[in-house]
Order: sequence, then C-alpha cells, then structure tokens
Amino acid sequence: MTTLEQSTGSSLIPTLGGRWYTDPAVFIREQERVFEAMWTCAVRSDEVTTPGSFRRVQVGRESVLVVRGRDGALRAFLNVCRHRGAQLCTEDSGQVRTTLRCPYHAWSFGLDGALVAAPNLARMPDVDRMANGLVPVHLQEWLGYAWVCLADEPPSFAEDVRGAVTERLGDPAAIEGYDVGGLRLGRRIRYDVAANWKLIVENFMECYHCATIHPELTDVLPEFARGYAAQSFVGHGAEFAAGAEGFTVDGSAGFAALPGIDAEQDRRYYAATIKPTVFLNLVPDHVILLRMTPLAVDCTVVECDWLYAPEVIESGQDVSRSAELFHRVNLQDFDACERTQPGMASRAYAAGGVLVPAEHHLGAFHDWVRERLA
Ligand code: FES
Ligand code: FE
Repeated sequence: MTTLEQSTGSSLIPTLGGRWYTDPAVFIREQERVFEAMWTCAVRSDEVTTPGSFRRVQVGRESVLVVRGRDGALRAFLNVCRHRGAQLCTEDSGQVRTTLRCPYHAWSFGLDGALVAAPNLARMPDVDRMANGLVPVHLQEWLGYAWVCLADEPPSFAEDVRGAVTERLGDPAAIEGYDVGGLRLGRRIRYDVAANWKLIVENFMECYHCATIHPELTDVLPEFARGYAAQSFVGHGAEFAAGAEGFTVDGSAGFAALPGIDAEQDRRYYAATIKPTVFLNLVPDHVILLRMTPLAVDCTVVECDWLYAPEVIESGQDVSRSAELFHRVNLQDFDACERTQPGMASRAYAAGGVLVPAEHHLGAFHDWVRERLA
C-alpha cells in the first residue's frame, strides 16, 4: 500500500474557478458539448419490457423517448411531434398499444417512429411517412441500461463508456463477473441536489472527505479513512474491514457473492466514473449505479439504483441494511455538495480553491472539462 502515500510535485494545485459552477453560460455550453454530445445512461432496459412501453428522459435540453418496439427492439426518439412541435408524451412513463399519438392534432407515430396516421392523411398522398416520422436518437444497451446519444455521430461507446470502466478496473473482463445486465432492481432513490453536477463528480472521485462525513462507510472500508479514493489507482479495490461481514450499514452479512466475481473481487469495493454523468459501485453481492441529470447550473437530479442477483429479489429478501449504507453515503455527499454550491458564487472562490495530493486526480477532470468547453 506504499503507493497510496506517494505524490509528486507541489502539494496544492488549483481547481476550476467558481464561475464554472455558477455561470448559466457555462452550463449551456456543457449541455451542447457534454450532455448532448456524449452517451447518457437513460433507462433500465427491463423497465421498458412490453411492446409500446416507453420512458421519457431529459438529455441536455432535449426530451427523449425510449420505446420498446413490436419487434422487441428498444429505440429512442426526440419527444417532439413532427407536425407543429408539440411534446408527444407528457408522462414520464407509459404504455401505448400501437402508436404514439400527439395530443394536439392527433398525428400518430408507430413504435418505429414512422408517421402512420393523421387526420386527412389519406388526402395527402405525397406525404413521406418516414421523412415525417419521429427524429431518432442513437441507442446502445449495456449493463442492463439503454444509453442514448443525441450527437449526429456519437463518440465511440467502446471507448467512452466501456473504456471508462476498463480504465478504472484495469481489465475489460473485470466488470463481466458482476453480470450487471442480469441483476434486478432492488431499490431506487431519487435525490434532488441543489448543486452543480461537477461538484457531485468531484465529490465521487475523491475520498479526502470520507473520514469526516462517512462514518458508516469508513467502518466497512477502513482505508477510506486515510483519504485516498479507490479511484486514484487503476485496478484497486478497497478492502472490507476484517470485522465487516458485508457491505451493509452495520457491517452485518449481506447476500451471497455474485457467482461470476473472482476471488480478488470478493470483500472489495470498486468504483468507476463514466463521464459525464454515471457512477458505478461494485461490491461482492450487489452493484450501485448512480445517474445524474443536470437540470440547471445549480440543480442536479441523481437517481441511485441498487441492483441485486435475481434470486435475492425473487425470494423477497430484505435489502434495507444493504441499501441503507450507500443511501447514507449519498445523503452525506449531496449535503456536502449543497453546502459547497453557495461558496462557488463567493468572491473568495473567484479564482477557485486547491486540491491536496489525495485529490490531484481531480485535476485531470478539470482539464477534461476545460478541453470539452474550449
Ligand atoms: Fe402534433 Fe399537431 S403538433 S399533431
Ligand atoms: Fe463521499
């Protein structure tokens, strides 16, 4: 563990200045260059199972529909009627029989997006039904989620999404054993956080705060009390305390380890940030996936999913003690982010703050933000 103590260069390096977290113009640029340009983890595939079921999600400034087709495929479309632009679906989720029907003038679109019916359409034989169909959005499925991208030419999913996990875990096969796509949702909690999304990313990436605000987490993962995040080191998983039987709020036993993980992954916690808006946490018996939806420069919705082996869910086992640990961590983290947000607007933070060695890897995130917005 000696590497955990090592650092190079000067102790303090600068952060981004406060306006990066408060300026609406920066946020608009982030919507263009980040959220609308990169892959967004939109919905769990198994929440859109039957043909005609749909979910509505916000991606940057766009409302997007994820729809299950009659052929079983998931597709995504902009939630905008091609007639005169009314929002097609005004519910967050729903089920239609065969078409998505606009509530304004009743243009109806098939589950593949094509225009299939409209008042007097038969008297307009020149209307091209595909050209006037819903605008498609790129979609990929991975880890049991549908990921969407608004870009005309999306960045490589293999590099940007899978690659982010590989970069953290050190091996593309390391994620496979958790079979995240085969897990089932055991608990979901939505947090409305009054903080800029970058504060939440930075908080997730460092553990300098762990000893101060995460007593339950550091009881289970004692090395976190030393301030170094597992994310600072490729392939490193934080080891459970000798006395911790499982990753639970009181260190009591959790569930059976997921069958595919290897011996090295047992009794360890791994974390990965999939920029820009996904945090992945891996422990032997479950997976916790957080998705952010930045709504404004100082307002971010975070949805946290706790995923368990199907047999845990089907047998009706109580996941409360298991989910409670990270729920407390979330509350502690988001409380810290909300306490930080007002400071971003202070003249004391106009030129930014500083990163200590245990946080120096956040500098790479700041460089990444600067480059994307340049
Ligand atoms: Fe949708 Fe007219 S705007 S049918
Ligand atoms: Fe934290």
